[in-house]
Amino acid sequence: MTAMLLDGAPVTSLVEHVERGGGTGWQRAAHDGAERVLDELERSGLRGRGGAGFSTATKWRSIVSGGADVGERFVVANGAEGEPGTFKDRALLRHNPFLLLEGALIAARTVGARRVFVALKSSFQVEADAVASAASEIDAARWAPDIEIALVRGPDEYLFGEEKALLEVIEGEEPLPRLFPPYLYGLFTTSPQIGWSAGRSLPDDRRDASNPTLVNNIETLSAIPAIVANGGGWYRRFGTAESPGTMICTVSGDTVRHGVGEYELGTPLSTVIAELGGGVADGRAIKYVLSGISNPVLPGELTETPLTYEHMDAAGAGLGTGGFIVYDDRTDPAELAHAVSTFLAVESCGQCSACKLGCQHVTASSVASTESPMEPSTASSAPVSRA
Ligand SMILES: Cc1cc2nc3c(=O)[nH]c(=O)nc-3n(C[C@H](O)[C@H](O)[C@H](O)COP(=O)(O)O)c2cc1C
Repeated sequence: MTAMLLDGAPVTSLVEHVERGGGTGWQRAAHDGAERVLDELERSGLRGRGGAGFSTATKWRSIVSGGADVGERFVVANGAEGEPGTFKDRALLRHNPFLLLEGALIAARTVGARRVFVALKSSFQVEADAVASAASEIDAARWAPDIEIALVRGPDEYLFGEEKALLEVIEGEEPLPRLFPPYLYGLFTTSPQIGWSAGRSLPDDRRDASNPTLVNNIETLSAIPAIVANGGGWYRRFGTAESPGTMICTVSGDTVRHGVGEYELGTPLSTVIAELGGGVADGRAIKYVLSGISNPVLPGELTETPLTYEHMDAAGAGLGTGGFIVYDDRTDPAELAHAVSTFLAVESCGQCSACKLGCQHVTASSVASTESPMEPSTASSAPVSRA
């Protein structure tokens, strides 16, 4: 295990955060300016931890570009954490909410935003309390009087985490994704939208502005302070050329125990499963690992695969959000596929009939297979909801 973000005991006050080196990244960003932050971010090679692994520097630069004519800019921290089998953002917020807030403030200063929204599910009470208390300490210490931090509580739906749906929720709407990405059509935009619904506007908003909005995952933003404080070259000492840094992994399913821990990218999946999960029960073998509800399953023979974007892609599975649901050799593949398609049929937004009806059709057609007699197995009784 490599502790960069989950280092030491949980941080419960701003004083403790600063004692551990917190605040240096924020001071550097304020002193050195946006261009230096963007350069270090680019040098670090950081990729978004929300699932897609998109270059964080490229995303931040896309928000900055456009000059003064695009309206107000916003920063949104995506803490919906809806991916089945993932508990890393919540673990991080419980461990040190100041990392997220410092990273979000650096993002706001860099892209020129005056408002930061931290979006969490309503059910994440412990994390919401931690963020609210950390934000009020940062506010009292007057780190950034010109930047407002707001906590937004959203529904439990999987779709809440999709970034365009997240913006809808912040605007008081249902979590239904709109058409354009947040850098083209951000928060509180009042220009005509060819999407789900017109967004609400704030009284002083421009009527024709696109309001580019930066949406990053909690783990992505939490990695920013150390990168800005120590430089992108320092960050690249961890991980591989294409997948620098660490990742907070979650292991659940048919393992002896379930756990969360931070690993340098490039660590074999088998090591993570052994250390966090204690492996599978005696006499059992790993049959599949699911690294994301929309990812193909990784066969048990491939668990030596290093955890990097490139290796997991080559293995046909994808790294996702580093959440690994392990299935042992009692698992019926048809029942696993049925559970996944049920999840997608229920959670699909319904705005495109091919996806909603297609998932429902696949799920209905696989019922016959899952109802056939098979060896009793705890592994296959509730393969996804158990995660
Ligand atoms: C259906 C769906 C659900 C998603 N759920 C989450 C989520 O819970 N948390 C998250 O950070 N990203 C989620 N994403 C990805 C976000 O849309 C977005 O790409 C991400 O927040 C970008 O942050 P990053 O660049 O830091 O990875 C989801 C995407 C889809 C399509």
